[in-house]
Amino acid sequence: MLKKPIPVILDGDPGHDDAIGWVVANASEDFNILAITAVNGNCSTAKAAYNSLRIAALIGYDGPVAKGQDNPLYVESLKAPTNVHGESGLDGPALPEPKHPLDNLSAVELMSKLISESNEKVVIIATGPLTNVAALLLTHPEVKENIAHISIMGGGIQFGNWTPAAEFNILIDPEAADIVFKSGIHIFMAGLDVTEKALVCQPDVQRIKEIGNPVSEIVWKWLDFFYQFHHKLGYPGAPLHDLCAVMVLIHPEVFTLKDMYVEVETASDYSKGTTVGDYYGITGKKPNCTCLMDVNREQFIDYMIKYIEKYSEV
Ligand code: RIB
Ligand code: CA
Repeated sequence: MLKKPIPVILDGDPGHDDAIGWVVANASEDFNILAITAVNGNCSTAKAAYNSLRIAALIGYDGPVAKGQDNPLYVESLKAPTNVHGESGLDGPALPEPKHPLDNLSAVELMSKLISESNEKVVIIATGPLTNVAALLLTHPEVKENIAHISIMGGGIQFGNWTPAAEFNILIDPEAADIVFKSGIHIFMAGLDVTEKALVCQPDVQRIKEIGNPVSEIVWKWLDFFYQFHHKLGYPGAPLHDLCAVMVLIHPEVFTLKDMYVEVETASDYSKGTTVGDYYGITGKKPNCTCLMDVNREQFIDYMIKYIEKYSEV
């Protein structure tokens, strides 16, 4: 009996690693992508929406793409990290122009419509700040019962990357993250604990370069660009943060998982945006997250390449 594809909504701030996660999600027969929604983070929401349309054209995704909230729910937006993803948010290789316009609905209204209409529980894969997801839960709380999981790239149990304590996606909109973590919806949390080990190194890039299809030609150039920032920091490869939030849904076996109660710090001078994980169960609170704590890097890369190769078949 073939498994029914999981209905998913891809919400992100592309962003090189968001883009590669979407390349894989679109190639997997295990997903039915209901929508792509853009959020402010690596770049403005307008740029993320434009990048989303270009990625959609590249991968042959013809479904709806919607623009999300321009700013975090309550805080001023931090400056976009142009030193990581470039001025456009997706610098590097030239991309096709959009084939379709943005959807007339906002990201929140499109998410609400699609989730309400779905006959199967939907999974939201959020690879940027959680602004859109939190706004959805605040304005349409009734959709919660038709959301199976929220799989996020965000946070870190042991450390941060934008402050010593906080990871970028959570720090951009801590209040939004707090709403999502308290929503009662199960979360797969791909935090820095795992994503900093999901490294794509030069031999892996060479394997992608040798695939030779229109998508792989862009992916290896994205990786080259994305690695520039990390190389300067001494990384041996580019951390594919966002792909972890996609991969865990289709190949959980490549990860080490640990259920944990996690809450978000929203009011602190030094640790605002921290995901505080109850690793030892000290609070006695029921876990709200399945945290990804480690990855078999070789298997992770092999699966990524397998999905990129699928674009040779189209
Ligand atoms: O901290 C890593 C996260 O921030 C990734 O999602 C990356 O795309 C950026 O959004
Ligand atoms: Ca991202």
